[in-house]
Amino acid sequence: QQLVADSLFAINSFAQKFFADQLWNTEEGQNIALSYLEERGFNKEITEKFQVGYNPQSRYTFSRLATQNQFNPELLLKTGLVANRNEELVDNYRGRIIFPIHNNTGKIIGFGARVIGKAEKAPKYINTPENELYIKSRILYGSYFARQAIDKNDECLLVEGYTDVISLHQAGIENVVASGGTSLTTDQLRLIKKYTNNLTIIYDGDAAGVKAALRGLDMALEEGLNVKLVLIPDKEDPDSYVKKVGAGEFKEFVAANKKDFVLFQLEVMLKEAGNDVNRKNDVVNQVAETLSKINKAEDFTKQQEYIRRCSGILRIDETGLTNLVNKYK
Ligand code: CTP
Ligand code: MN
Ligand code: MN
Ligand code: MN
Ligand code: MN
Repeated sequence: QQLVADSLFAINSFAQKFFADQLWNTEEGQNIALSYLEERGFNKEITEKFQVGYNPQSRYTFSRLATQNQFNPELLLKTGLVANRNEELVDNYRGRIIFPIHNNTGKIIGFGARVIGKAEKAPKYINTPENELYIKSRILYGSYFARQAIDKNDECLLVEGYTDVISLHQAGIENVVASGGTSLTTDQLRLIKKYTNNLTIIYDGDAAGVKAALRGLDMALEEGLNVKLVLIPDKEDPDSYVKKVGAGEFKEFVAANKKDFVLFQLEVMLKEAGNDVNRKNDVVNQVAETLSKINKAEDFTKQQEYIRRCSGILRIDETGLTNLVNKYK
């Protein structure tokens, strides 16, 4: 097992160097990939820091080099960097920008490979398949680069994607990690909790973004995290928004629009319920269930405070809500 892991690390490291070389030092890489990254506003320093690369369009550039370097074909297949086509190894990420994914010690556990330009037929991103190193439910993209800043700020910003993390770094906001676009897992929340108790989720404000965020709330409370939410407006994401308004304004926006996640959820549900008594009753139950997830001993005061504020907003009896919360425990 350890041997397999070490071999996969070795392949990934070899591949990263190859992809970076292709990006910076070949005509194809410069013309197709580097120019695309530049057009999107990523500067040289940040592209280098995140070890971004490029896999050329030809079917065999990486696979041949890897085979020549005596890497085991089965292990190569495991990394997802190559695929088996008619008993032949071919490059899997042809013509794509390569974002390496690092573990907490800076070793590469996998890659995200982005199509250049608009994704029309092909999927926008292809990611490493599950293997000994790449366990999707435990990956927080950018954590290696974010740890110090998370510690310093005692806060972790969570965004959706690779480019959001990289752009925010470029803007000097470094306490940021990405979930990879899927809903948060308990493992990811526990990793965050090792660094800080304060999680600020920054998602795009579309319905899908809000839903994805809300799905993680109960879990995050269970892990004892304080969760805030910022929704980015106007079909933007953190990457496009910070490039549009600049670092200073982005920070101001985040500070001014940080909402307590529990109260935000209540607000959303109340708006949906309108004046319907039955639906308001459902809301009360939902809130009670959510608050029941705050059950770590040291969070007792926090739970009391939420009960006080939620019962105020709902205009219901505080003791009644307390009893209901305890029923859900
Ligand atoms: N994602 C993925 N596979 C896809 C689409 C998305 O794995 N086909 C993941 C990636 O980690 C991506 C994140 O979900 O970074 C967010 O998706 P999206 O917002 O569509 O992409 P962006 O990160 O905004 O990428 P870009 O700015 O390059 O379009
Ligand atoms: Mn800390
Ligand atoms: Mn979205
Ligand atoms: Mn996005
Ligand atoms: Mn984007």
